[in-house]
Amino acid sequence: MEIQWYPGHMAKTRRMIGEQLKNVDAVCEILDARIPRSSRNPDVDGLTAGKPRLVALNRADQADPEGVRAWAAFFREQGWAVLETDAKSGAGTAKFSAAIRELLADKLRAYAEKGQAGRVVRVMVLGIPNVGKSTFINKVAGRKTARAEDRPGVTRSKQWVPVDKGLELLDTPGILWPKLGDQEVGLHLAFTGAVRDEILDAETLGCHLAAYLADRYPEALKTGYKLPSLPERAVEENDVAYGWRLLEAAGRRRGFLVSGGEVDTERMAKILLDEFRSGKLGRFTLEMPEENVL
Ligand code: G4P
Repeated sequence: MEIQWYPGHMAKTRRMIGEQLKNVDAVCEILDARIPRSSRNPDVDGLTAGKPRLVALNRADQADPEGVRAWAAFFREQGWAVLETDAKSGAGTAKFSAAIRELLADKLRAYAEKGQAGRVVRVMVLGIPNVGKSTFINKVAGRKTARAEDRPGVTRSKQWVPVDKGLELLDTPGILWPKLGDQEVGLHLAFTGAVRDEILDAETLGCHLAAYLADRYPEALKTGYKLPSLPERAVEENDVAYGWRLLEAAGRRRGFLVSGGEVDTERMAKILLDEFRSGKLGRFTLEMPEENVL
């Protein structure tokens, strides 16, 4: 699972973070609430050392509410502020300004004592691609139109975006690449669609997802594909082999047959990935804090 992760862009982002850190009061790290570990770039801690942190658990609408609660508590224990957001609908984003002011309460009090009560608070926003960063910034800043692309290869100059009179966001391409060295991280990013097609072909990825769901969310799989029971995993059967049998069972129920009565498992895999990503199968948190070392 080797992927080219735009090393030039990564270097540029690191430089930008280094240069801009002195100009900001806090860092807002946007994570995908379904995969808070895999959607973190672990370099952020080192790169932004010492800056107050707000973590936005975005895509909370797509995550298991219990998982969102567990992660919010976990991050709060690190001393970080936490927001649960759905940037698409805007839910939770209105609390951004209050959460930042609470996080920086001591600093703001000190400013006030020095007669600098009107001093503008600045926040750097960071996140991996597709986590919802642009949508989040637009909602927080009440901006209607999306800004210029912030995809790799498209340059855009840094800019301060006003949220309210005393608060600004640094709208630079604070894009960080996920760490794909770990197979589980790569799979979770691919399941959620944060990376697409780069890692595995759809059928193999669908096998992994089916096996994962059978282990962790069997009811979702049964309900979604009208399976009264799931095939049992054979002793030492690996995820791909077991997942393939699950796809076969689901595909048969859906009537995805090809000549000879065989199931079109590739088609079923694509449907499973689509229905998982679109929320049709339910809300999922793929990793829990206690299982992870951040
Ligand atoms: P990025 O800047 O981090 O790369 O991500 P961006 O804001 O472009 O968002 C990527 C996609 O994810 C967008 O969908 C956006 O609407 C959606 N999205 C962002 N935040 C959330 C969230 O909290 N919940 C849900 N359900 N979706 C979210 P798109 O397919 O590109 O466009 P559209 O679906 O909005 O038309």
